[in-house]
Amino acid sequence: MRDAAPTTIYLKDYTPFGYLVDSVHLTFDLTPHATRVTSRIAFRPNPNATDRTFFLHGEELTLIRAAIDGGEITPELSDKGLTAITPDAPFIWEAEVEIDPGNNTALEGLYMSNGMYCTQCEAEGFRKITYYPDRPDVMSTFTVRINGDLPVLLSNGNPTAKGEGWAEWTDPWPKPAYLFALVAGDLIAHPGQFTTMSDREVELNLWVRPGDEGKCAFGMEALKKSMKWDEDVYGREYDLDVFNIVAVDDFNMGAMENKGLNIFNSSAVLASPETSTDANFERIEAIIAHEYFHNWTGNRITCRDWFQLCLKEGLTVFRDAQFTSDMRSAPVKRIHDAIDLRSRQFPEDNGPLSHPVRPESFQEINNFYTATVYEKGAEIIGMLKRLVGDEAYAKALDLYFDRHDGQACTIEDWLKVFEDTTDRDLSQFKRWYSQSGTPRIAVAEAWDDGTYTLTLSQRTEPTPGQDDKQPQVIPVAVGLLGPNGDEVRSTEVLELTETEQSFQFTGLAARPVASILRDFSAPVILEQDQTNSERAFLLAHDTDPFNRWQAGRSLAQDTLLRMISDEAAPDADYLDGLLSVLRDGELDPAYRALMLGLPAQSELAATLYERGDTPDPMAIWAAVETLRQATAQHMQDLLPRLHGEAMVDAPYSPDAEQSGKRALGSAALALTSRLDGGAMAADAYANADNMTLQLTALSCLLRARKGEEELAGFYDQWKHDRLVMDKWFGLQVSMASPEATPKTARALTEHPDFNWKNPNRFRAVMGALAMNHAGFHQTDGTGYQLLADWLIRLDPVNPQTTARMCAAFQTWTRYDAGRQDLMRAQLTRIAETPNLSRDTTEMVSRILG
Ligand code: PHE
Ligand code: ZN
Repeated sequence: MRDAAPTTIYLKDYTPFGYLVDSVHLTFDLTPHATRVTSRIAFRPNPNATDRTFFLHGEELTLIRAAIDGGEITPELSDKGLTAITPDAPFIWEAEVEIDPGNNTALEGLYMSNGMYCTQCEAEGFRKITYYPDRPDVMSTFTVRINGDLPVLLSNGNPTAKGEGWAEWTDPWPKPAYLFALVAGDLIAHPGQFTTMSDREVELNLWVRPGDEGKCAFGMEALKKSMKWDEDVYGREYDLDVFNIVAVDDFNMGAMENKGLNIFNSSAVLASPETSTDANFERIEAIIAHEYFHNWTGNRITCRDWFQLCLKEGLTVFRDAQFTSDMRSAPVKRIHDAIDLRSRQFPEDNGPLSHPVRPESFQEINNFYTATVYEKGAEIIGMLKRLVGDEAYAKALDLYFDRHDGQACTIEDWLKVFEDTTDRDLSQFKRWYSQSGTPRIAVAEAWDDGTYTLTLSQRTEPTPGQDDKQPQVIPVAVGLLGPNGDEVRSTEVLELTETEQSFQFTGLAARPVASILRDFSAPVILEQDQTNSERAFLLAHDTDPFNRWQAGRSLAQDTLLRMISDEAAPDADYLDGLLSVLRDGELDPAYRALMLGLPAQSELAATLYERGDTPDPMAIWAAVETLRQATAQHMQDLLPRLHGEAMVDAPYSPDAEQSGKRALGSAALALTSRLDGGAMAADAYANADNMTLQLTALSCLLRARKGEEELAGFYDQWKHDRLVMDKWFGLQVSMASPEATPKTARALTEHPDFNWKNPNRFRAVMGALAMNHAGFHQTDGTGYQLLADWLIRLDPVNPQTTARMCAAFQTWTRYDAGRQDLMRAQLTRIAETPNLSRDTTEMVSRILG
């Protein structure tokens, strides 16, 4: 239920809790609607705190009994928690509460999924389990006894005792409550084993529901690789006797790093060649690594308060990106990350939801698990590493682990280890954490008698609450190419710290072509008046794989923008340049597949808006279609060869090499379908022996407005598999024509398998609707209305997922007056819904501005 006036929490108001917790003992008596939780907690006054108010968070709990040092007390209760009078000395707190996991649809706290009990406590879910100081700076060891008539009973730490219908777990590492976890159910283990660098044996288990045993092998191998990699690269060893992962079907996010007991959305861990795509495998490998890496960056060293969320998330995303680069292809990973940042983080950073990587206030912390905190947070660490160098980075990280193990830390602590190891002053760099908005770098060039001068100037547009922006420290990696395509200056990192700065390169024989922002060295927008012949030159010659790809991307964007605004024909420089890159059999197939990509339609809309035009989603869609058709025709002769190169005649493996080939083959198939009406795709569908090929072929058919039969066959083949059915739902919406998109989505919501309370299924349809740019933005407003209807329906059931999906409306002010009115009306309708959750209230009011 919503507060009368939502409270805003500020970073500047931080004060430590008045008590320290020495130990926590919990007993769970599990029943679906009346689970008893008994707690026994040792508190003592915190010598570093002045305020001795004894307030324990607690929400949706029925208090049965409370006692201090064995004497029953009657605490003062509110809907947020309780307060009590305590002795001015160490004491034992005991409480017994009753909770109702069977009716917990919000999937926060203790809830049930397919008859299995599980928990989600980050950020503030533990307060729905028992009364506790539910804040990350209160750390304690936990002992947990679970009584329940279920075969598998799990919690954090090591198993210390068990019997018929009960189990006890002890976690020796002090942790905040948000890392608590409990799982109980009829589960099957896929076991594994790992020997750590100091020769300790660790028992690994991936727990799944009966029927999912065949989808565990890949996740288990990914876990072992992650454990080894963290030892090799960061010197970090695992610290318990067991490591458990559980797959859960109903989960709001991807996965959760609970100490020794990671809980995963089943879509983020279960995989088999028949049911999962190459992209699924890659994502799973990255998420398993991410959650495992949190054991050090998040669990052993945690956050002082939720404003510091990027301390663990930015660093852990950075670490999982390093892992993926090492396991697969570094350039391909970097390009994927740049695409992702531009499509998810830039719209956030340049719209009404813009917030600093370390926010300074919030109403609902769940609304700040954002692309900005995670992905821009990771980019900041990449910049730091680039500025100080690999060796200094490694030293700083060693110091971080040494100095802060067991602590709840801040961004100040993090930056201090870099200052102490490098003698750098990072006070200006720190603006990356406090200033929101994407910096833009304008480029000016001059050439004079052997000297090339590059002038870079930076500016950041105002964002909500921040009108004036200060210059940031931006590492700009630059290389120079001579007229024959040779590199005449290898990559150098320029440090842009002023509003405007010039950099000179002397002793050059001829005017060079600059390759700027190599490897996407900073999360910025580069504003460069490049000619198309310069872009084509870089596309042909740049030695930096990122910028070579970027040159192609800029050509594509340029031609699309001119097609949209001036009804220009597809640009020959782009088509020819693309053709020669695609012909180059020496180039990694995955990289060539990326070359065939186009900027997202929403990204084109953003660019048009930023240069003062009003984006027309249908015109954007039409331009993309025309360019695709022209590309298919231009490459007609090459397409069969690309197919050939993409052939894999080995047993399926989701590794980088095979999936790169399939990515290229799929891109070629998609182009071919534009020429043959889907004939080849129908064939490919019939012969597909893995999900990657099956889904690609089906999407080609749907895009060709064919494949009715295949779609029905797909349903019959896979209706028993929840994760595959999510694809079936999503694909129909993403492949629908713009006009048919809202109708298609609506029809799917009426399908008997549309279990809308399951976040994966809800997102499959509604997420695909929001992502289908021209379909969502149909001028009759039916796309907006359908999404709003469902957000209003989901809100009382699951506020977190509802609030996240409101972001689909974040770009509403970019469009024409008619669309703006329609979107505002839907946002207002959501905002005025009685009893709207705090989560959704905050999101909608920020979006409306
Ligand atoms: N901490 C989790 C992760 O990154 C994300 C998460 C947040 C999951 C909140 C559930 C709830 O890795
Ligand atoms: Zn994380």
